Amino acid sequence: MEKYDEGKAIELGKIWMKNGINRGHDYEHASEVEKHAIEIMRSLEREGRLEKEIDKELISISVWWHDSYKARIKGWTLYGLIMEAYESEKIVRRELKEYVSPKRLEKAARAIRDHNLPIWYFLLTGKYPQVSQILFEADTIEELSTDRFFRSLNMSRNRIFTFLFKLYSMNRIFWWKFLPNSKYTQNVINEYKNSL
Ligand SMILES: [Fe+2]
Repeated sequence: MEKYDEGKAIELGKIWMKNGINRGHDYEHASEVEKHAIEIMRSLEREGRLEKEIDKELISISVWWHDSYKARIKGWTLYGLIMEAYESEKIVRRELKEYVSPKRLEKAARAIRDHNLPIWYFLLTGKYPQVSQILFEADTIEELSTDRFFRSLNMSRNRIFTFLFKLYSMNRIFWWKFLPNSKYTQNVINEYKNSL
């Protein structure tokens, strides 16, 4: 009998996010991040750059659990802003230890810990594991969504906030050119720039 059950780990992540109380870090967000993450993984595979231990299950585990802490917090707190990735890492290590092998859990936990770091951290340290890269790219792409931005603020669209949000997003995507990124992400960013 198989000792670990990664399907269960993903299913539990979906239940966790469904039970969340944070509008920007909810089931819908994780679900969109997963779609992008799978496309990024396939893009890296086509480019011959995908590491061989990385597969869809590992990516889905990282995605469904990456905002597990924030999902349980209503609104914003300074602690949450700084420590969310560390707290989510603690949750994933605790909740999934019986479902995911230690080696694979380590990769997912590392990606979750890395996902809220600024780009310059990766540039300065050169520490950019591929699972972290896939999660980071997918999460950032999803956060460019204006719909998601207004959903997280629980307000209807308006021009001033759309303009400010796009200004903020432009600053985020400026830094992408300095990181190794997938062709999929490059295309999304180019399309986004053209739509501005
Ligand atoms: Fe996220």
